[in-house]
Amino acid sequence: MRPRVYIHSWAPEDVLSDLGRDYAVDCYDTSANPPLSAEAFGERLAGAVAVMIHTSTLDGDMIAANAETLKVIASIAVGTDHIDVAAATRHGILVTNTSGVLTEAVADFAIGMVLAVGRRIAEADRFTRAGHFQGNNFGLYWGGEVNGETLGIVGMGRIGQATARRARGFGMKLIYHNRNPVADSIADEVGATWRPLEDLLGQSRYVILLTPLTPETHHLIDESRLRLMRSDAYLINVSRGPVVHEAALLAALQAGRLAGAALDVYENEPALADGLAALENVVLTPHVASADVATRHNMLRLAATNLKAALAGEPVPNPVNRVG
Ligand code: GLV
Repeated sequence: MRPRVYIHSWAPEDVLSDLGRDYAVDCYDTSANPPLSAEAFGERLAGAVAVMIHTSTLDGDMIAANAETLKVIASIAVGTDHIDVAAATRHGILVTNTSGVLTEAVADFAIGMVLAVGRRIAEADRFTRAGHFQGNNFGLYWGGEVNGETLGIVGMGRIGQATARRARGFGMKLIYHNRNPVADSIADEVGATWRPLEDLLGQSRYVILLTPLTPETHHLIDESRLRLMRSDAYLINVSRGPVVHEAALLAALQAGRLAGAALDVYENEPALADGLAALENVVLTPHVASADVATRHNMLRLAATNLKAALAGEPVPNPVNRVG
């Protein structure tokens, strides 16, 4: 019997047929079907030698329950906070991600969020769509300036750098914070200067969060840090929801202590903090920063490449942990 591979995601035909040559492929298309219960997910996972998942949770208990058979967890994402990587490592299960292929798409989206919230594009769309446009446009939707403003990037990895390059084209001044400053050659090339987080928050008109979720970045932006931000500033989160204390953000927005926010991710995804959706100056998207057509295909292809290499004992392009 061919070993079983479980794909908990939409997957393109080429990936399905390629994997199908060597494996019995079970694919639950999460894009076209309702979310599976934990029990149903567990049933499909049982007996698989490898699983491909996007951002669904794979916790320590699920990993332990499948440790006898599971050899590879191929995440179709760059972040791996949804997977208990330590548990996988303990059980000798390799975890891989799709870093690299989604850098440009996420950077495009991050800049899109700057424009959407600053220039009030989503708000203006709602107004027009509702039939309120009467031709009296001059006073409508005056937004925050973008060109000439300071953009603070928190997390200067590949996506942060790609975002910085784009922002330069908008004539923005760039500062960044990263646990370790990047090499001078990179900082010079993207034109960004390192600042302590507190300074960055106090100086930036736009703050973009692009940091992975780790114990250190959990609630990195909490009430006290939000209070450092300018009242004409916008917070943009395209990283992971729990990097921001969502209730504190909501309170800051409701009190008018920030000009607005653009969020692609949420602390208790897919739930939103009560009251968030009622705020006009907040742009909300459903965790889709990497979702352009080519990137989605490439993410699946890279996850499949990682999975096949790992099962064949060949060098794996994107390992996250070390096993064996
Ligand atoms: C998606 O959120 C990712 O981490 O790639």
